Amino acid sequence: MGGLSVDPTTFFRSDGKRVSGRAVDELRPVKIEAHVLENAPGSCYLEWGKNKIVAAVFGPRECHPRHQQRQDRAVVRATYNMNAFSVEDRKRPGLDRRSQEISKVVSEALAAVVLTAPFPRTAIDVYMEVLQADAGTRCAALTAAAVAVADAGIPMTELVAAVASGKVGGTVVLDLDKYEDNAGEADLPMGITSRTHRVVLMQMDGNFTTEQYHQALDYNFAAAGVLHEKQRDALRSRYQTVAARQPQEGGAEAEDPGASSEEE
Ligand code: CDP
Repeated sequence: MGGLSVDPTTFFRSDGKRVSGRAVDELRPVKIEAHVLENAPGSCYLEWGKNKIVAAVFGPRECHPRHQQRQDRAVVRATYNMNAFSVEDRKRPGLDRRSQEISKVVSEALAAVVLTAPFPRTAIDVYMEVLQADAGTRCAALTAAAVAVADAGIPMTELVAAVASGKVGGTVVLDLDKYEDNAGEADLPMGITSRTHRVVLMQMDGNFTTEQYHQALDYNFAAAGVLHEKQRDALRSRYQTVAARQPQEGGAEAEDPGASSEEE
C-alpha cells in the first residue's frame, strides 16, 4: 500500500466508475469450484479477478509434532503459500513473515467455524497455494479454504468468506485490485460467517474516518453475503455431481449426502 497519491482521477473515470470499470461497491468476478484435487479429501479452486488460488484439506488426522496436540479438540493449521511465479517480481520461495501472519489469521478464522471438539488430539491441515496474485489474496485464500474444509466433510457450524474494502483517492471502494492496492490509502480485510454474521478475521492498514469505516463495513458485509452464496453453489454442484455419478458406480440409487445411514 503506497498511500502517497490522492489524485481521484488516477482511480476514477468521469462517469464515477473505477479505472477497471467497476462501481465503488462492485466485486471482481468470483468463480469457485469444490473438489478439484484427486489426492486431497477436500479441495477448492477459486478465481477472484486475477487471483488464482487452490486450497487442499487433510484431517482430522494424528497431530504431529505432538506438543501441538490439544486434549479437548482438533487444532486447525492453515498454511498460506505464495508461489514464486504468482507475482510480477518473482516471490522468494518459502515462509516469510507475511505468509506466517496470513496463515495465523486464517487458522483462527477457520477454527471459529469448524467443530473441533469431536476430534481431540488431531490436526486439520489446510493448505492454500496462491498461483496468481492481484491483491486480496488472504481473503480469497480464506474463502477457498472454507469451501475445501466443507468439501472434506469436516463438520462446521457455518461457512466463512472474506473480503476487503479500502480507500483510493479519498473514496471508499470494495475489493481493491493490485493497481488500487499499490496506491491505496487504507485496506480493511474481514472474514464474516454465513449464518451468525460474526467477524472472525479483521485487519486494517492505513486510516479511515468513522464514516468511511462504517461504509467499508457495510460494503464488506454485503459482499460477504454474495460470496457465501457462491460458496454454497460450489458445494451444491459438487454434491450434485456425486449424486449423479452414484447409480453408475454402485448401481444403487443416488443418496442424499446430508442423510445418515441407519444400516451402517
Ligand atoms: O494479497 P493481500 O491483499 O491479502 O495481501 P497484501 O500483503 O496486502 O498484498 C497485496 C498484493 O501485493 C498481493 O496480493 C500481491 O499481488 C502483491 N504482493 C507481491 O507482489 N509480492 C509479495 N511478496 C507480496 C504481495
